[in-house]
This record gives sequence, C-alpha cells and structure tokens, in this order.
Amino acid sequence: MVLAGGNDQIELIKGIRNRFPEAEVILIDMNPNVRAREYADKMLVISTMDFDKVLEAAKEEKIDLILSACGDQPMRTMAFVSEQLHLPCYITYRQSLNLTNKVLMKKLMVEGGISTSKFRRFDINSEINIDGLDFPLVIKPADNNGSKGIIKVYSKDEFDKAIAEAKRYTLSGDLLVEEFKTGEEYSIEAFIKDGVPHIVFASKNIKIKNRNTFTICRNEYVGQLQAGLEKRIKEIVARIGEVFQIDNVPLLIQMIVNGDDVNVIEFSARTGGGSKLFFIRQMVGVDIIDNLLDITFGYEPDIHPDPSTDKAAILYVYAKPGQFTSIENLDTLMSEGLITEYYQYKSFGTPILSSNYSSDRPLGFLIRGKDESELTDKISRVNDSIRVLNENGEDIMCHEIFR
Ligand SMILES: Nc1ncnc2c1ncn2[C@@H]1O[C@H](COP(=O)(O)OP(=O)(O)OP(=O)(O)O)[C@@H](O)[C@H]1O
Ligand SMILES: [Mg+2]
Repeated sequence: MVLAGGNDQIELIKGIRNRFPEAEVILIDMNPNVRAREYADKMLVISTMDFDKVLEAAKEEKIDLILSACGDQPMRTMAFVSEQLHLPCYITYRQSLNLTNKVLMKKLMVEGGISTSKFRRFDINSEINIDGLDFPLVIKPADNNGSKGIIKVYSKDEFDKAIAEAKRYTLSGDLLVEEFKTGEEYSIEAFIKDGVPHIVFASKNIKIKNRNTFTICRNEYVGQLQAGLEKRIKEIVARIGEVFQIDNVPLLIQMIVNGDDVNVIEFSARTGGGSKLFFIRQMVGVDIIDNLLDITFGYEPDIHPDPSTDKAAILYVYAKPGQFTSIENLDTLMSEGLITEYYQYKSFGTPILSSNYSSDRPLGFLIRGKDESELTDKISRVNDSIRVLNENGEDIMCHEIFR
C-alpha cells in the first residue's frame, strides 16, 4: 500500500515492482486523478491522513507493507498502520509523533543538546509570552508542512495578524514561535545505518525573495561538502539518532548554516520530496528509493555517493491564478540541452489558485552546467523562453522569481 500518488511515489511503485514483480500495489490518495494511479493495480480514494479508514482498507486488502516515501505527515499513518498490523516499518508510531510535530521535536532537540533556535510553545487559546526571544521571530503551526502558515515577524505589532494566519493551518491548535536564524538553508539527505550517519546529498533551499513567507523556488546542488561542515553535520545526524532513538532510517534535515554556526530547523525520517530523488540520481548516482526499501526490509543499503563536479539546480515554477493548460518551448529546451529533466506536478486542465506553497507549483526543471556561469546562463535562457499557458493562451508563469 502506497500513501499518496505524486511523481515521487511513482518511483516508489517502480522500485517495489522491481524487487517484487508479483506485488499488487494499492494506492491511497484523496485525489482520484493523481499521476501514480496508472502505475498501481488498484486505487482507493481515501485521505492519507485518515488513520482509521486507511487501517480498515489495509486489513481488508491483507497488505504486507505500507510505505509513504517522501510524504511528511503521512509518515504517521504509515507507522500507525504498520504497528497495528505488525508489518515491517523503520519507525514506531511513538517515534513518528516526535518526528511530525514541531513542538515535540523542538522540545527533544533542546533537551538533547541539538543546536536549534530558541522557541516557545503556545496554543490557540493561551496568551503568548515572548520575553527572552529576540526579533525577528518565526511563527509556525506545530503540525503542518509545506511552509503553510509559517510567517516571519519583525515586531510585536505584526504578531497578532501573523498568529491569526498561522492558526488557520493547525489541526491540533498548537503553535510555536522561534527566533529567526540568518544564514543559508541547507537540506541534507542522509541515512542512519546501525548508528552510523551516511550523508547522501546536500543542497541549498532558496526561497522567493521579498516575502515574509518561505516559498521555495530553487534547490541548489552543493556538491562535496567542505570537510569541517560535513563533520559537523555527521555529528548532528548521529545525535538525532540517539536523542530520538531512531536507527536504520532515512533522514531529511533542514538546517541554517552560517559560518561554523549550524542550527537545525527540523528533520524527518523520510526521503525528500519535490523531485529530490531524481536530482540525487543525476548528481551523485545514489538511488534513495532503493536505499529506503533496503532499510525497510533490513538489507544493507548501497550508499556510495559519487558527487558530480557540475553545478545544478531544480527550479520550481509558480504561476498566477488560471487554468494550467500547456507548456510552450519545453521540447526545444530539452533537445538543446538547456533543461536536463523536467517534472510535471499538475495535470493539464488543473486550476492554479495561488503561488504560495509547494503544492501550488505546476512543474519543476533540473538545469545543470559545467560551472556557475553556464548554469546561470542556462537558467536565464530557460526563463526567457519557457511559457506556462492558461486556457486563453496567456503566459501565467511568475518569471520574475528567476530574474
Ligand atoms: N528559525 C528559523 N530561522 C530561519 N528560517 C526559518 C526558521 N524556521 C523556519 N524557517 C524558514 O521557514 C521554512 C519552513 O519552516 P519549516 O520547515 O519549519 O516548516 P514546514 O511547514 O515544514 O515547511 P517545509 O515543508 O517547506 O519545510 C524553512 O524552510 C526556512 O526557510
Ligand atoms: Mg520543513
């Protein structure tokens, strides 16, 4: 049983079939039109967050395994159902709670000495005391993802409005506020194997400028990490394993790096979404889906990254509201080698409502060059010629993001 039906899960399904050609794959997603549907044997239209319904379906179908790969909150459903039905799973339900609730996670990080910014927890009914915290601050719902309801505030005046907005995105009613850390945001893909940290891939998350929200528009390949930073990150990965009592797991970490100062924002025991697995295959030759399946079944994963010396980035495309109808010039850009790979996240005909969240983007593309100047040049040429058309043939892509 596979939770959610995006492009990344298509690769998961292929990975499962590769290993178990006889496997019957059941896909769970609340959207009946997801792309992974045609790769599964059967689809059940259920929310991946509906524990009871997913459990019921799992029992009925007599499943042998449930996996969510790169889904953040569905990881809890995976752990819950696995525990109830005694299926192999690399985390317990208890562990999945600490890994999907930002308040529980921050609390454990602080107690366990994992460097992270100062924070306070509060719920939607209580007064918040921010004495001892320095502006700018970041307000967050405890139990969401995709940067929904994450807002940066510079002063007490902006507080109430930001809290009202953040509240809209919390299920449990828990919120947290933490100090904003300046620096570059790194996204680290790693595994912990028998207590030993293995770093697979490092990239930088670049956000859309001039907003007080954190919409990601680009993921940049870092290549071989500088030795000091790599050592520091490995220590953090190992410490996370100890403090959160997790082992033989994939680990995706977001951190802010500023010189020698490394601060963990959060992490999850899963592989990265947003086409990361394709990016990793391209740049370091590791198949994280294969590794994830190995970890799940207790086999030795083959984690030997061979970092390319190229520069590369995945650009995430956003568009103004309208119906996503077609993409112009994509084939030419691919055949000219300006775009290495592209990832379509929405089917043609889908309405685009906003350009705020990762779930809003219609597509992404991977661009690589032999050096920084070739990469920059290719990005600007792609941005100049690609067109994302609405039903009236008008270009609705937000080109300014990449200028
Ligand atoms: N303390 C902080 N200092 C600086 N930037 C922060 C901080 N906390 C969050 N951010 C920014 O906000 C973004 C989203 O935060 P966070 O990862 O906690 O929420 P999320 O809902 O899981 O979002 P995403 O799915 O995009 O990771 C981060 O990627 C980072 O750019
Ligand atoms: Mg996050």
